[in-house]
Amino acid sequence: MKFARLNTLTVWLIASFSTVLFTKSYAITTNLTPVHLRTEYRTNPVVDVDAPRLSWELTSAGKGQVQTGYQIMVASSVALLNAGKPDLWNSAKVTGNATNQIEYAGKLLLARTVCYWKVRSWDKNGQPGPWSAVASWEMGLLTKTDWTADWIGNDLTALGKGKTYHLPPAPFFRKEIQLTGLVKKARLYVTSLGLYECQINGKRIGNDYFTPGWTDYNKRVYYQTYDVTTDLKTGKNALGAIVADGWYAGYLGYALLVGNPVVKNFYGNVPLLKAQLEVEYTNGKKETIATDQSWKTNHGPILEADILNGETYDANLAFTNWSKTGFNDANWKSSTVFPDKSDRQLEAYPGDPVRVFEELKAKSVTPKAGGHYLFDLGQNFAGMVRLRVKGNKGDTIRLRFGEVLFPNGDIMTENLRKARAMDTYILNGDPQGETWTPKFTYHGFQYVDVAGFRTAPTIDAITGIVLTSATPETGSFETDNKLINKLYQNIVWTQRSNYFEVPTDCPQRDERLGWTGDAQAYVQSATFNNDISAFFTKWLVDLNDAQRPDNAYPIYAPAPNVRKTDTYSPGWSEAGIICPYTIYKTYGDTRVIRKFWPNMVAYLKFMEAKSNGTYVYKEGSFAEVSPKGGFGDWLSVGKKTPPDMLATMYYGYAASMMADMARAIGKSEESAYYEGVFTKIKQAFLAHYADSEGRFKTNSAAYGNGEGYVDGEMGFEGHTQTAYANAIYMNMIGSDLTSKAGNWLAELIKANGNKLSTGFLGVKPLLPSLSMTGHTDVAYQLLLSTEYPSWGFEVVNGANTIWERWNSYIKGKGFENNAGMNSFNHYAFGSVNEWLFGNAAGIKANEAGYRTFSIKPEIARQGLNFVNATYQSINGTIASSWKKEGNRIQLRVVIPVNTTATVFIPTTNPDSVLESSKPLKASQAIRVNDFKDGYLQVNVGSGTYQFSAVN
Ligand code: BGC
Repeated sequence: MKFARLNTLTVWLIASFSTVLFTKSYAITTNLTPVHLRTEYRTNPVVDVDAPRLSWELTSAGKGQVQTGYQIMVASSVALLNAGKPDLWNSAKVTGNATNQIEYAGKLLLARTVCYWKVRSWDKNGQPGPWSAVASWEMGLLTKTDWTADWIGNDLTALGKGKTYHLPPAPFFRKEIQLTGLVKKARLYVTSLGLYECQINGKRIGNDYFTPGWTDYNKRVYYQTYDVTTDLKTGKNALGAIVADGWYAGYLGYALLVGNPVVKNFYGNVPLLKAQLEVEYTNGKKETIATDQSWKTNHGPILEADILNGETYDANLAFTNWSKTGFNDANWKSSTVFPDKSDRQLEAYPGDPVRVFEELKAKSVTPKAGGHYLFDLGQNFAGMVRLRVKGNKGDTIRLRFGEVLFPNGDIMTENLRKARAMDTYILNGDPQGETWTPKFTYHGFQYVDVAGFRTAPTIDAITGIVLTSATPETGSFETDNKLINKLYQNIVWTQRSNYFEVPTDCPQRDERLGWTGDAQAYVQSATFNNDISAFFTKWLVDLNDAQRPDNAYPIYAPAPNVRKTDTYSPGWSEAGIICPYTIYKTYGDTRVIRKFWPNMVAYLKFMEAKSNGTYVYKEGSFAEVSPKGGFGDWLSVGKKTPPDMLATMYYGYAASMMADMARAIGKSEESAYYEGVFTKIKQAFLAHYADSEGRFKTNSAAYGNGEGYVDGEMGFEGHTQTAYANAIYMNMIGSDLTSKAGNWLAELIKANGNKLSTGFLGVKPLLPSLSMTGHTDVAYQLLLSTEYPSWGFEVVNGANTIWERWNSYIKGKGFENNAGMNSFNHYAFGSVNEWLFGNAAGIKANEAGYRTFSIKPEIARQGLNFVNATYQSINGTIASSWKKEGNRIQLRVVIPVNTTATVFIPTTNPDSVLESSKPLKASQAIRVNDFKDGYLQVNVGSGTYQFSAVN
């Protein structure tokens, strides 16, 4: 299943068609129709916030259409809503163009209330359109007193102790219940400390995986709500659950690798379940069945279940029909009730759960030495496999997972490090064959090495199951250049693999942590491919929960210390500012700013104190963190940009975002204050790190021989690609110096053989800063390069995801960095996506949420003849397509209803510009603004425009 949003075009067609009908029979003169109704960024969700935020998109034929007012009605039943009796809220007509971030402002909502809503909009002529279709949201359990369920568990920690790993079995829980009447409505509220899967009457409930998600379980845990009305019947029913260690009690990160005193059980030892089934009968009677000590428990076939290390299943121990009525649980014991932690919050899951994205058939199966078979699924991804096997009782199948092969064709697993990443299935010998899929582990892989088949397997013995957080797809990007198309697909796959409950660095090795540096470098890129609003609403809570006692944001979140010395790092910690800022800019979300404002202010105070009031970090300022200076321009090539110089720029960047965000929430004094801080940082930065010409420098001697710094032996240099790219991108230097900096940047690239040298922090701003300073040609040159180091180098060396290193694999040579840190699914270098959409296609938000935006496509001189991009913003779908045709550029743009755009038409001759084959003047919907720097600027309202111009 793909998580596509409603297809706006289809909706538009339906809407226009029905309007035609309506117009005839009811004489409604507008066709402005609200579609894609959502609450808290999701479709018909369960929420527990006080004032849920509503949003919709608008469709309308014609051009220049805007909403001048709206009316929302909310009722406790569809009948009341349809009868025009909104018993919860009637907003009445509200003047204005707002279509999102609209807070519910009706009656106080009680737990469990289902709220049905619809909306209509008034158009530019003041005509109301038709009511939307009905959408809904439901209030979850709002306080702890709504819960009667106990935390129950079955302590199995004495079992599963091996030489290297301690992997106890997963406990099963069951309870039979008697329902006394016809069920009208039933909800299952469920959570766990660890992971759970619930079943009712033999059926798995929901299609979510890795529930209830990863949080700092000491502070909060989320619950899911499932509508199980149709899963229950009058009379006897059986409830079942399986619980596994998960992030709560399982292995995390590289703790084992680095010899951390704690390697697992970061939050607790025994995984626990808390579930509450609430039933309402047709006669109005209500009943609650909750976990307590009466639930029976046992451990059976799932001998091991660990996210990093894999799952082991012995089919001979399977409990057939254990979650159905009539199962004999006489030898199961009673559950143990565990105490609650009174300060742990229990909240409705606010994000997009992990779900199956699609299944992948194996492309080939190859026999290997020792009776092994190697399956190639054709794509590196995060997920698991379904195994189909026929054999004898006791036969053992072992599955190992790898992203790539050695040049000799053997599977490469060295880069998994201490993640055992092995699944095992022990057959019961069913003559019909057996099918098995693990439940509580996932791997990052393309290849599966399988041992233990009795006879040669067929290709369907292994099926890939792609898992990802179900963030709806919002973008598309296509060109006539295969290399770039492949790069884009690789970026998409890497995001899919790593937006996995939290934004992880990689899905395969003993890490899979919410690394903050990776998250901030990539977040803007991510917004184009998928709607990440709900995903980040959730993760930003993790990030702020993980803010350190000294107020620094951590290097990963959720943040149990998987290495004693892990603290904070410039360029990583600023995710605490950059990510909320990006969510605000992308979705017009000011709640996220308000929510974390005190935390962000505290972080800025920490940064200020760290500069001792000087607003600059001189060389060696971060010598106390490990590694010294922090991670800096991680995995860059050649001389290192001083981490302290980067830290100063990040501090300035953070201050400037704070000024913007303060303005957005009406804190004008704070805004002025942070503007002031930004100015001081810029001045201090230039005074220390630039010469009188504005050329960047550093006192490299201050770093001695570089010991303790990341790649310190390479030496430090201020005059680097990374330094200029960041300074330009972050607006750290005045406009005259900015253009100089752009020239130096272009020169440095040229002097480096037309190659980039940037790492994690330098790569994101590299192409944008070249474009900002008039060096689009150099940006394209880097983009189209296939020489090391470049994105193209990865593609020509066989990548189908983004690699951690520029040279993770070289055809004919293999792995230059084989053993340890060499992930083939790492999105940091994929941050070039920001430039693909923002520059090559030219789509950029002006106002937050793309209510106003610009389309300024940058035309490649060579290598690309067209770019087609679409982006479904919170205000509707934007499209930008350009194409070279003879001496003309064709530019087709789509501007959503209720938005306006400045379109930059690339041309050498403004008089040559046509729209729909007619000279511009003929059109009323277009206002010509300016002709500058090779672009004719025009302002347009909603609609589709087909420009053509000599270029
Ligand atoms: C991770 C990175 C992370 C880094 C810190 C690595 O091991 O995989 O992506 O940001 O550590 O520098």
